[in-house]
Amino acid sequence: METTFAIIKPDAVKAKNTGKIIDRIEQEGFNIVGMKKINMTKNVAELFYTVHKGKPFFEELVDFMISGPCVVLALQKDNAIKAWRDLMGATNPEKAEANTMRKLYGTNVGSNATHGSDAPETAKTELTIFFQELN
Ligand code: CMP
Repeated sequence: METTFAIIKPDAVKAKNTGKIIDRIEQEGFNIVGMKKINMTKNVAELFYTVHKGKPFFEELVDFMISGPCVVLALQKDNAIKAWRDLMGATNPEKAEANTMRKLYGTNVGSNATHGSDAPETAKTELTIFFQELN
């Protein structure tokens, strides 16, 4: 079993799509081993997206992530990292496959409803930021 880190982003929470996304996560066979609704601080958002620091969209990304509450999750399943990324679809909702989270609930590349870790090391780092209690 692998554990990945996921976020239901402020756009999806604001649009009241949290329940639909969580329902789909469970229908697809993930175990939710951690979940909380948080208001991300600017410091945490900057730390979390530090890999994107210096990119033209960095400030917009941080501002968006602190614009309202989000839901952070620790998701467990065989090959959870790939399974959650497949379920989310492409970063840009316009390019995401049908029935994926970003196709269904995303608006554009910035407001794209969900986040998921892209590799085992990233998952470990991201889970450590938000779920110290799971370590
Ligand atoms: P996420 O999977 O959370 O990881 C980094 C985020 O940066 C990504 O989803 C997008 O929401 C965001 N992002 C990537 N490219 C752009 C862009 N060109 N403009 C705005 N946001 C972007």
